[in-house]
Amino acid sequence: MTPRDVVARILAGRGSTPRAVANAYAPANIALVKYWGKRDEALNLPVTNSLSISLGPLGSHVELARGAGAADAIWLNGEPIPAESSFARRASAFLDWFRPAPDFTFDLRARNTVPTAAGFASSASGFAALVKALNALFGWDLPPREQSILARLGSGSAARSLADGFVEWHAGAAPDGMDSFAAPLEATWPELRVGALVLCAAEKPVGSREGMRRSVATCEFYREWPARVARDLAELKTAIAARDIAALGTVAEGNALAMHALMAATRPPLVYALPETMTALHAIWAARRDGLPLWFTMDAGPNVKLIFTRAAESQVRALFPAVQVVAPFASPAENPPPAHS
Ligand code: PMV
Repeated sequence: MTPRDVVARILAGRGSTPRAVANAYAPANIALVKYWGKRDEALNLPVTNSLSISLGPLGSHVELARGAGAADAIWLNGEPIPAESSFARRASAFLDWFRPAPDFTFDLRARNTVPTAAGFASSASGFAALVKALNALFGWDLPPREQSILARLGSGSAARSLADGFVEWHAGAAPDGMDSFAAPLEATWPELRVGALVLCAAEKPVGSREGMRRSVATCEFYREWPARVARDLAELKTAIAARDIAALGTVAEGNALAMHALMAATRPPLVYALPETMTALHAIWAARRDGLPLWFTMDAGPNVKLIFTRAAESQVRALFPAVQVVAPFASPAENPPPAHS
């Protein structure tokens, strides 16, 4: 089964006549219990479930139209992107699965409000927004589950960026991945805050695809990971239901550190933390010893995401003046528009 087969199955009987233009937005997401390791590389099928929180105004806007030229025209943050760049190649390779005819090209304008490829999931919000835009451009009216599956084919974690709030990606068991999709949890938590601490916006040296492949193949502790994830997921859901920030923070921080331990024990080793990262972690631990209810998570990069509630917000801002705070469950009015990156 290839991604093309999956797309053909999902789009069977759906139209292929585009309207003039379609616009879509999808939020970035941060996993509180991580996805690290695939059971199928071509279809981005994960070994385990994972659970994330969507980041409201931090995400990707996509404007999509039929192109006029012989090749896709791709723009990122207002700049035309050369066709041979990795961003354009990845986008065009994804769009290949959706062209109604071989000579059909797209005009794709993406605008990220998160830094690209810096440990913030801009690929997740980007592919999710692109699937939403394709769905709107061709009028497919796909259910959320199918949109999540299509986004997953672009980037695994994109499966979780179709919805707001807490989102669980079900690993599924079917070889074709039709049961591997993400869906939102019922829970809300208006006081919850996520802080984005950008310590380095440069592109990471080893991407998550290659990193996961290496960990699954060479890290002997990887076999412990699925059981750890199952335990962390159960604890996380209890913490969410109880709105217990200490329990949520403890699970999320522990799960992120366990993933980074797997990475470090991979051969060759993967160490994404920079000196600035370690300084931030020690500052968080010191503040917590002094009574501040503040926890963190980290993905495959040097940046840190802070986890806390509204009650701690002013102290967190005092500790990290550059932090960008998101209220995942608040109205847009309570989330100031993100600084353009
Ligand atoms: O979807 P990818 O291939 O970018 O992988 C994301 C992996 C992590 O960000 C490290 C964890 C996660 O669950 O998002």
